[in-house]
Amino acid sequence: MQLSLPTAAVALAVFASTVVGQETHLINLVNQCGYGTPVLVLANNGTVVSTGSSFLSKGPIHGIAYLQVSDDCGPGGQNCTIVDTLLANSGSSVGIRVSNPFAFNVPVGFSYYYGEGHDGYGSFCLAAGCDGAGVFVNVTAPGATMRITFCPE
Ligand SMILES: *[C@@H]1O[C@H](CO)[C@@H](O)[C@H](O)[C@H]1NC(C)=O
Ligand SMILES: *[C@@H]1O[C@H](CO)[C@@H](O)[C@H](O)[C@H]1NC(C)=O
Ligand SMILES: *[C@@H]1O[C@H](CO)[C@@H](O)[C@H](O)[C@H]1NC(C)=O
Repeated sequence: MQLSLPTAAVALAVFASTVVGQETHLINLVNQCGYGTPVLVLANNGTVVSTGSSFLSKGPIHGIAYLQVSDDCGPGGQNCTIVDTLLANSGSSVGIRVSNPFAFNVPVGFSYYYGEGHDGYGSFCLAAGCDGAGVFVNVTAPGATMRITFCPE
């Protein structure tokens, strides 16, 4: 069986958290748009934790992910499509927001890709007015990890 790179990374993260006994959550940011910079900030204080492909949180995380394009988005994702990402062993809740102060700027999709039979479980928003916005997908899965894809198709 050949593991894709993200799957291998998740397997490693899960293995590591099992061995060390520490809560971890991996968030992968995948930009298929061909433009823009993926940004992940902490919801509570706006600290930028990633402007690249992935972030491994050593504990619960409440992050906001968006694609910065031509400085259109505010530092907390204002005016842009965001993925509100709460990952915690006690319960995870992730959803897309495009309502004020946010607004649709790029298509986005997300999926949990590890945990208690929830592989691939997620939602997406491909255009303004999409049905996926505001739908929060909740799971209880220790070590839950998340893949967020900008321009998923
Ligand atoms: C921001 O919040 C995180 C998580 O609560 C915390 O670890 C970090 O120290 C905070 N950073 C600042 C600059 O307040
Ligand atoms: C959002 O867009 C409005 C209208 O263009 C602008 O006035 C405002 O400053 C933007 N907000 C942020 C946080 O960038
Ligand atoms: C998911 O969790 C959020 C935050 O706790 C909650 O507001 C929402 O009602 C939950 N949604 C479902 C479908 O359980």
